[in-house]
Amino acid sequence: MLILGIETSCDETSAAVVKDGREILSSIILSQDALHRDFGGVVPEIACRAHLESIIGVINAALTDAKVQLTEIDAIAVVNTPGLIGALLIGVTAAKTLCMVLDIPLLAINHLHAHIYANNLEHEDIQYPAVSLVVSGGHTTLFLSESETKHTPLGWTIDDAAGEAFDKVSKILGLGYPGGPVIDRVAKGGNQCAVTFPRAYLERDSLDFSFSGLKTAVLYHYRGQDAKTSKSKTPSDQDIADVAASFQEAVVDVLVDKTVMASRIYNVRGILMGGGVAANSRLRQRLKDKSQEISIPVCFPLPRLCTDNAAMVAGLAYKKYLEGDISGLDIEAIP
Ligand code: KG4
Ligand code: ZN
Repeated sequence: MLILGIETSCDETSAAVVKDGREILSSIILSQDALHRDFGGVVPEIACRAHLESIIGVINAALTDAKVQLTEIDAIAVVNTPGLIGALLIGVTAAKTLCMVLDIPLLAINHLHAHIYANNLEHEDIQYPAVSLVVSGGHTTLFLSESETKHTPLGWTIDDAAGEAFDKVSKILGLGYPGGPVIDRVAKGGNQCAVTFPRAYLERDSLDFSFSGLKTAVLYHYRGQDAKTSKSKTPSDQDIADVAASFQEAVVDVLVDKTVMASRIYNVRGILMGGGVAANSRLRQRLKDKSQEISIPVCFPLPRLCTDNAAMVAGLAYKKYLEGDISGLDIEAIP
């Protein structure tokens, strides 16, 4: 079965053709990073306009790469929640129109569940129940996953998402956008013990997250208590690397500890990671080490499948199709 996946929830316009939920025949990802760089974050208005300009070209490129005709596609999957409302609407409208014209089924996909499914594109032996952590620019959410399609949220961020903290700290340190990949790289040359930043564990046994205090702590440390004034002396590259590594370690500590706590509470057979921050090399290393210690296997998608892509959307749609969970043409975009 050939499914065309469409993803426009944030700042990547993406389309992919996936066969039987596993075989990626094509995956086109058009990043809007360059358009948002000067603003240090995603500007919704710019994102929607860019999706509108490129969606048809991206879908055509996905079909061409997969060497299939539009008429050979059996179903269309689209992310309809959560995301930027104007951005979601572009993908949802394109998908509905194609389904109507081609008279094929439409599958509405939850973006966070698709991030978790990215693991299934590579790993066949995933054990359920699992604890899944989606860490991205917009979300930091822990789920109890009973299958590829059944996920119950256990905890989420009460303020900033982990990826948002990476992006904002990168802006403070003058490292550019998006912040995650550059902090990951710069931190390799820094000392993670150089600065002790706060770790917000919240209440005992809480599976919620908070990263805004950490971001402010980095701002104060870097610019001095009066953050509005610019720093008095120019920090060296080593200072910047030390702050980046110390910040990253604080984020990773909390993500690892809460994921392990959830996996113990729910007595799960596996841990699944997803979302852009799951590409972080320090997080991957620390969780792999921890997974051996607690004897619960951890899965990560390949880094290119951690960030937003439509292959994970088309993949999950196949499972939903098999379960008969097909949407009507009246689906809405839900931010
Ligand atoms: O999943 P994603 O592509 O989009 C959303 O659904 O938000 O995640 C994007 C986020 C950005 O905040 C980016 O800085 C972060 O993922 N990110 C990383 C890394 N690669 C991307 N964060 C930490 N380390 C990385 N290597
Ligand atoms: Zn995402």
